[in-house]
Amino acid sequence: MFDKTFWNDRYSSKEYLYGVKPNTFLEEHVDIVAGPVLSLSEGEGRNAVFLAVQGLQVLGVDISEVALSKARALAELNKVEIQTEVADLAFYEPKKHSFGTVISISAHLPSFIRNRLYPLVEQALIPGGSLIFEAYSEKQLSYNTGGPKDVDMLMTTEKLEQAFPNCAPILLREVEREVSEGKGHTGLASVVQFIARKHAE
Ligand SMILES: C[S@@+](CC[C@H](N)C(=O)[O-])C[C@H]1O[C@@H](n2cnc3c(N)ncnc32)[C@H](O)[C@@H]1O
Repeated sequence: MFDKTFWNDRYSSKEYLYGVKPNTFLEEHVDIVAGPVLSLSEGEGRNAVFLAVQGLQVLGVDISEVALSKARALAELNKVEIQTEVADLAFYEPKKHSFGTVISISAHLPSFIRNRLYPLVEQALIPGGSLIFEAYSEKQLSYNTGGPKDVDMLMTTEKLEQAFPNCAPILLREVEREVSEGKGHTGLASVVQFIARKHAE
């Protein structure tokens, strides 16, 4: 299991492990992002800062205080503000009915954490709010271009559909794409992409 120490070590150098440019799937769909935004496992801030530059209010949550400190430095460099919260998503309780969008980009979590967290994520969205999700698929195990090696932490379209029963899928697919995100994620990869809208209550 990857813990806080593992991630703090991984983020300990000055460089940004996953780069400072936003995830391209998020960038392509930014027009549907409404604030406030909750970013699960935000890391070093590339996605939160991108959204803040668009004028959105963003809260980035991550287990690594080293990552979030780099995220705040990136925000300062870009002359924007982001909110950050150091938290283990295994215990995190997002505020109910509070977010226009939740993003989850490469936020790989074991099923025991997802099973508790994702219903809370649905509750945290306001009715009509959106979820934007990209993660490596189970097929990524054979690509060797990044991501966890534990199949339980990798996604399928079926796992996602089942995890968010109160959100209507707008886009749900598994695709092969070239990923270029710093040193951390590089090369041809298999990813699952999901955009869904929470049902009106
Ligand atoms: C592959 S990185 C992706 C970071 C960021 N979303 C991005 O796209 O640049 C995975 C992130 O998950 C965070 N993480 C791992 N386990 C976590 C947990 N239990 N709770 C909160 N964050 C966690 C790590 O600290 C790391 O920042």
